[in-house]
Amino acid sequence: MSNEVRLSIYRGTQGAPSTPLDAKVEVGSWSTLLDALISLRDSGAANFAFDYACETNNSCKLCYVRVNGIPAYACTFLLEHGGRYQIDPIDRERPHQDLFLHRKGVW
Ligand code: FES
Repeated sequence: MSNEVRLSIYRGTQGAPSTPLDAKVEVGSWSTLLDALISLRDSGAANFAFDYACETNNSCKLCYVRVNGIPAYACTFLLEHGGRYQIDPIDRERPHQDLFLHRKGVW
């Protein structure tokens, strides 16, 4: 089985239609969604906004997104090889850029 996953990442701002970013990302056995997002960004293949701070201990709560419609923390969501994932902001009704949700005190 391939060690890739397919991600379709919401890109856009509140009130605007999404122009999704579709990408294949190679992942390891215990890779999280956050690992894949960072890998995609660092590869230079795409630019998109997302947020995180603690990376692994699930304390900052900044990486909260929807994965296939279900709320999840990107840093603890384990990916399955061959999986397909639709990644959306946790709340499209609040001001956001891509997966980044604007919060008081973060601007
Ligand atoms: S990166 Fe901090 S909770 Fe996920």
